[in-house]
Amino acid sequence: MNKADDVLRKIEAMAENEFLPIVGPRKGKILAEAVRKVKPKRVLEVGTLIGYSAILMGKELSSDAQITTIEVHRLEAKEAEKNIARAEIPPKVNIIVGEATKVIPTLADCFDAVFIDAEKTEYYEYLKLMEDKLHTGTVVVADNAGIFADQMQDYLNYVRNSGKYKSTYFQVGDDAVEVSVKL
Ligand SMILES: C[S@@+](CC[C@H](N)C(=O)[O-])C[C@H]1O[C@@H](n2cnc3c(N)ncnc32)[C@H](O)[C@@H]1O
Repeated sequence: MNKADDVLRKIEAMAENEFLPIVGPRKGKILAEAVRKVKPKRVLEVGTLIGYSAILMGKELSSDAQITTIEVHRLEAKEAEKNIARAEIPPKVNIIVGEATKVIPTLADCFDAVFIDAEKTEYYEYLKLMEDKLHTGTVVVADNAGIFADQMQDYLNYVRNSGKYKSTYFQVGDDAVEVSVKL
């Protein structure tokens, strides 16, 4: 087993014993497939936790790619830093500690892929704040589109009905991810 897989399996085992809201292997497969398809050079993640999904995406990327990931809690970001270092994934990962709504407007990059997995009621705000940094073909994956659909209804309405995205709902068990490709 390579180092990234080893770290992922350890975090999954931790998540079975304690509350750890990682995307997990089943929804993670859809996230990894979306990333594999787009082959992004610049990835933005909102909601790092301890680095599970960053490692999962990073495994699919080349060494000239970069992941920017935002986490509001310093301790989680520190843990993520350690896990990401242990995983030895090819891309550089830049962890920014702060409130996503404050951090996103300060980012200069354009992004080819985005994973949104922080405060559910703010997904729409995150997307609107980053929309000028996305381009045709950018894939935006949003976690918890099943269990927290009511809290992210404005987001789901927007990606499905604004005409700016081609959006697909992937049901996985009792939850889902929404995968939206910018038109
Ligand atoms: C569901 S967890 C992320 C899980 C991670 N994406 C994974 O699959 O391994 C949500 C994370 O978002 C962070 N978060 C919540 N609100 C945030 C905000 N407004 N800005 C930045 N991070 C936030 C939380 O501290 C938490 O670590």
